[in-house]
Amino acid sequence: MRPTQGPFPTTRLRRPRATPALRDLVRENTLSPGDLIWPIFVRDGDGVTEPVASMPGVNRLSVDRAVEAAREAAELGIPAICLFPYTSPAHRTADCAEAWNPDNLSNRATRAIKDAVPGIAVMTDVALDPYSDTGHDGFVRDGRIVNDETVEALVRQALSQAEAGADIIGPSDMMDGRIGAIRAALESTGHSRVALLSYSAKYASAFYGPFRDAVGASGALKGDKRTYQMDPANSDEALRCIERDLAEGADMIMVKPGLPYLDICRRAKDTFAAPTFAYQVSGEYAMIMAAAENGWIDGDRAMMESLVAFKRAGCDGVLTYFAPRVARALAG
Ligand code: PBG
Repeated sequence: MRPTQGPFPTTRLRRPRATPALRDLVRENTLSPGDLIWPIFVRDGDGVTEPVASMPGVNRLSVDRAVEAAREAAELGIPAICLFPYTSPAHRTADCAEAWNPDNLSNRATRAIKDAVPGIAVMTDVALDPYSDTGHDGFVRDGRIVNDETVEALVRQALSQAEAGADIIGPSDMMDGRIGAIRAALESTGHSRVALLSYSAKYASAFYGPFRDAVGASGALKGDKRTYQMDPANSDEALRCIERDLAEGADMIMVKPGLPYLDICRRAKDTFAAPTFAYQVSGEYAMIMAAAENGWIDGDRAMMESLVAFKRAGCDGVLTYFAPRVARALAG
C-alpha cells in the first residue's frame, strides 16, 4: 500500500528538488560504467579506423584497433564489449560457412582481445546475417527462412565463438529453439562457463538501419525480417519469448530496440526478475547524434537521460554505442 501524503502545503513535492544535494539524496536510479556493454564493429586490415557515415563517432576497427578499444573500455570500467564483424562480400555465401570458421574476423578479434585485455568480457553475436548472401539471420529455402536447419548452423557458430574465448554469447537471430540447442552444445563440449545473453524480445524494427550499413548488410537484405523478429505491436508475446529462453538456459535476456520498448523492459523485469538488458540500437544512437549535430538538442544530456531511462525501466544494463562517451562523462 502507498502511504497517503498530506495535502498541500503539508506536502510540497518540490522540497526535495530544491538543491543538487537534496536531488542527489532522493535519486532513485543511477547509471554507472558497470551497466554498459559497448558494441563495436570489426573489419579486416591493420591500423584501420573507418567511420560509419550513419553513426557519427562510431568506427569500423581492424583487430589491432579493436584491442585498443577494449583496453580503453577496461580503463573506463566498462565490463563488456560486444563484437560485430563487417564481413567482405567474398565471405557471404549460401552455406554461411564463414560463420563457424575458427579464424573468422569475430573469432580473431575475440582471441586478440582476450589475450591483451583478459579482464574484459567479450560478447559475440550469433546469427547468420553477416555471412549470408541474402542478409537474413537464417537460411532461406524457397523464399522462407527455415528454422531447424538454421539452428544447427547457429550451434556451430556459437561453439566456434566459445572455442575462441567468448565469455558471453548473444543469439540475435530469433529462431525458435536456438537457446536450448546452444546451451546443450556448450554443456557437452566443456564450455559450461559461457553465458548466454539471449536477444529474447527482438522486434522487426526500422531502428536497425544504420547498423545494417555498419556491417554491410543493407545492400544484401532481400525483403524484411518479420517472419522471425517480433511485431512492434505485441507485448504479451515478448514475455512468452523471454520465459521460453530462460527455461532453455539463457542466463540473461535482452529487449531490443531500447527506448521505444521500455514498457517491455519493465514487464520483463517485474515478471521474471532475471538479469535484463536493453539494446539502445543504431537508429536510436543516430537520432540523438543527428539532432545534436544540428544544434537541436544537447547531445550529452540527451544521451544521459536516454540511458538512465533504462535503469528506471528495470534494466540491469544497456548495450549502447555511447558506452565510452558515457563512461568518460560519468568519470567527470
Ligand atoms: C542482426 C543484428 C541486428 C542488430 C544486431 N544484430 C540487425 C538486424 O536484425 O537486422 C541491430 C543492432 C543495431 O541496430 O544497433 N543479427
